[in-house]
Amino acid sequence: MDTLILGAGGHGRVVLDILYQAQTHNPVGFLDNNKALHGRRVDGLPVLGGMDQLPVLKARGIHGAVIAIGDNGVRRAMGDLLDQHSFEVLSAIHPSAQLARNATIGRGVVIAAGAMVCAHCQIGDYVILNTGCIVDHESMIGTAAHVCPGVRLAGHVTIESGAFIGIGATVVQNVRVGFEAVIGAGAVVLTNVEPMTTVVGVPARSVKDAPSAEEFASLLGANVAQSHHEAQAPSAVSKRARNQGASPNSDSESGVATSDPRDPMHIVR
Ligand SMILES: CC(C)(COP(=O)(O)OP(=O)(O)OC[C@H]1O[C@@H](n2cnc3c(N)ncnc32)[C@H](O)[C@@H]1OP(=O)(O)O)[C@@H](O)C(=O)NCCC(=O)NCCS
Repeated sequence: MDTLILGAGGHGRVVLDILYQAQTHNPVGFLDNNKALHGRRVDGLPVLGGMDQLPVLKARGIHGAVIAIGDNGVRRAMGDLLDQHSFEVLSAIHPSAQLARNATIGRGVVIAAGAMVCAHCQIGDYVILNTGCIVDHESMIGTAAHVCPGVRLAGHVTIESGAFIGIGATVVQNVRVGFEAVIGAGAVVLTNVEPMTTVVGVPARSVKDAPSAEEFASLLGANVAQSHHEAQAPSAVSKRARNQGASPNSDSESGVATSDPRDPMHIVR
């Protein structure tokens, strides 16, 4: 199937390589809202314009797209955008990735070279399982989480939606990492991690608490009356993740807002 790649940054190049290696879909071009890239080629593939080109390209017979944006919130919003335009949200799975036959994999996922997904794992929509990571048995990865290169998740680990597990981190068995939490590079996580907090080190310790209601409201750019436990705003967390440098692959962004709730765990299929 002719396929667009949304995002022409570093992660977009990785996804292009995966598609060439896997030969499951035929990449025909990137879309990226960075106007400086329009009309250029990235690794030989043209950048056809911004996300506003989706309906135009759909009318020309292109129906599929892979989302290649590192920022967790933006990636999820892109899924909504593709649904609005009735595009098929495709996955890019490197042929060297090892997936257990009974693992459940959502749509719009990117699984990079050498990643391993063991028995009975559930991988949610828009998840990135990056190069050489290990997701061991019966672990669950929530929607739009990012498991960075070389991460090791033991058995029965739960990564809630939008969480970012930094490069080389280890999470021991039965631990739950809260939604939109950030785990620093190389951390060893021995206990549960609260939502929207940042932990680093060995053993992992908290260096950033969840935002207060006021901070969360300012992230939203609006007055949020309810408590931050009830608020809804992955896009706010996108801003937070950018502030933290938590998703360095997000050199291409859509600027598209999302109305998705801050669901604590949202395995779609
Ligand atoms: C965790 C991380 C997001 C923190 O970023 P931040 O919120 O900007 O935090 P800061 O840089 O202000 O650091 C806060 C404290 O944590 C320490 N720290 C930050 N990252 C750390 C890490 N990975 N391991 C150990 N300590 C770390 C800092 O030294 C600082 O300590 P101090 O307060 O004693 O001086 C970032 O350092 C990180 O590890 N990012 C992961 C990058 C990655 O995995 N990239 C791969 C993408 S595919």
